[in-house]
Amino acid sequence: MKTVSIINLKGGVAKTLSTISMAHILAEKHGKRVLVVDNDKQGNTSKLFGVHSYERKSIADLMIDRNADMAEVIQHTIYPRIDVIAANMNLLTANLRVMMDSSRPQQTRLRAALRKVAAQYDYCLIDNAPDINISTINALVASNEAIIPVKIDRYAFDGLNELKSQIEITREELNPTLHLAGCLITCFQRDAGEEEGEKWLRENLGCPVYKTHIRYSGKVVGSSFEGKPIVEYSKTCGASRDYISFVDEYLGTQEV
Ligand SMILES: Nc1ncnc2c1ncn2[C@@H]1O[C@H](COP(=O)(O)OP(=O)(O)O)[C@@H](O)[C@H]1O
Ligand SMILES: [Mg+2]
Repeated sequence: MKTVSIINLKGGVAKTLSTISMAHILAEKHGKRVLVVDNDKQGNTSKLFGVHSYERKSIADLMIDRNADMAEVIQHTIYPRIDVIAANMNLLTANLRVMMDSSRPQQTRLRAALRKVAAQYDYCLIDNAPDINISTINALVASNEAIIPVKIDRYAFDGLNELKSQIEITREELNPTLHLAGCLITCFQRDAGEEEGEKWLRENLGCPVYKTHIRYSGKVVGSSFEGKPIVEYSKTCGASRDYISFVDEYLGTQEV
């Protein structure tokens, strides 16, 4: 199982849309078995996959309880090859409890849990909250790769250095397998300003940037109201075509 963190300290850069789209395309087009981990208490990824709940176990249980039963924490979806570890607001108190409980390591809990199911999946995609906290550190410790979605605007660089150094520290101290796979430009709108902006970002981000960018598409709002991944809602809109190309590009960079 390859584990990928979709991460950025900024909100609204399409972390969640990118995680959902990538999971859906890997599973439905490429036949991969995908475990999606919702690591954001807002639970948007869980909601889209129809598994947001306070009755069933979630990532919060996994962070607190070393013996949490993975079969209870992992939820199946309508997609045969996509399972989800859901998140809800309980993650807020779970994080505080993890911080107060030094009786066992605090940063390796997600990794320890995911290792138990590694043989069952080809990919694990972790959708993160716009933060560096004990949850996101657990995600980086559990990951082989980080993908950073970035939206073209003046503030695109905010938090990027902090994130890059967090990745570096995690790699050096806790997880030598972790590397920054690349930045993914999202919400691209074709006009002169954006093209300039994209060029500027590619030159200045200081890390690899995927060739494919993701176009802005009005269909994305409709897909979220319908509760469907964008490629299922509108296969031919710009964002869908681009996410399909991005996954092809991403798979092309994977060693076999
Ligand atoms: N390619 C796109 N086209 C149109 N809207 C988009 C696109 N990507 C993201 N959005 C919208 O931007 C907002 C933020 O996206 P989201 O994936 O929730 O970001 P994050 O998880 O980084 O906060 C959402 O309302 C989403 O529908
Ligand atoms: Mg999100």
